[in-house]
Amino acid sequence: MRKVYLPDIQPHMYLARDIYHFNGLLLKAGTGNLNRYLNSLSNLGIAFLYINDDLSEGIDIPDAVAEETRVKCKDALQDTLFHFRTEGSLDTAHITEAVDSLIDDLFTRKDILVSLSDIATTDDNTLVHSINTTIYALLIGKRLELNPTEMHVLAEGAILHDIGKTLLDPKILFKTTPLTKEEFAHIQNHPLQGYQALQQNPLLSELSRLLALQHHERLDGSGYPYHLKGNEIHRFSKILAIADIYDALTSERCYRKGMSNYQAYETLMAECGDKIDAELLHIFFNSIAIYPNGSIVNLSNGLRGIVKAQNEKAPFRPIIRVIDDVHYEEVKLYDLDLLQNLSVIIMR
Ligand SMILES: [Fe+2]
Repeated sequence: MRKVYLPDIQPHMYLARDIYHFNGLLLKAGTGNLNRYLNSLSNLGIAFLYINDDLSEGIDIPDAVAEETRVKCKDALQDTLFHFRTEGSLDTAHITEAVDSLIDDLFTRKDILVSLSDIATTDDNTLVHSINTTIYALLIGKRLELNPTEMHVLAEGAILHDIGKTLLDPKILFKTTPLTKEEFAHIQNHPLQGYQALQQNPLLSELSRLLALQHHERLDGSGYPYHLKGNEIHRFSKILAIADIYDALTSERCYRKGMSNYQAYETLMAECGDKIDAELLHIFFNSIAIYPNGSIVNLSNGLRGIVKAQNEKAPFRPIIRVIDDVHYEEVKLYDLDLLQNLSVIIMR
């Protein structure tokens, strides 16, 4: 299995994973002749597919949670946000159940270097972002050995962290040209609006609400809404900030390509210690795949390959299936373990 952007889809490729649009199955794994669907997929805002072909045979891309758990979470969140927007009521019973399934999945699946690989359509990318952010936050929580109650609170706060955005003016929220000072101030209201919205539901913990309030605060006081510094920011909010930024940077949209995991790693590392908690960031980058299985990489020895598997303790040194060797005329498939070949590094 490997990830291929729509323009690079070839007739011999087969879909490797089901594609959902909201909760409905759009295309089933195993579908061939994909070129006939490319226009429709592109119109839905889908940027890439997971496919199977000869080159990627036998390469598995493990996900942190089961597909049905994702669908359950999307369903619960969509439902909750819809009722909140239309009736102003905030019933989180479905959310509570859905985040517990997420936590169960994370604990029952073996420790893997995760790369979240959900395919978002334009219409549901807000839902996908909230769910991915929650999974990333939980991965840090799991490494910190948080207890089940703490994991639940972290998940609940994370999945609802941007609920305040539903109260913003969509014309400003989705504006693609630069924001005026007033418009930016309007956007910066969403953490406080989110906190106030979550106060409506007495079943939510105060800490879950605090996560919505503080997720844009930064250690050096440059965040908003209160410009809190250092330990004025709750540790869970610092976790959520990392998860939120990382997913925003790496998300693929039809109108812009997301950063690679490595580019996002460098971007976050540049802010490490000043704006972002160094210890938590270190834990995070030990939980995710910097070079996810199925991605194409160029190596320092001039070879090119597909990431085949991860070395658990060395996120920068995965095992590569070499697919294109400039020293041979015929394409020869073989594996190169970067942990055994320390002079070779990934260039791109
Ligand atoms: Fe936000």
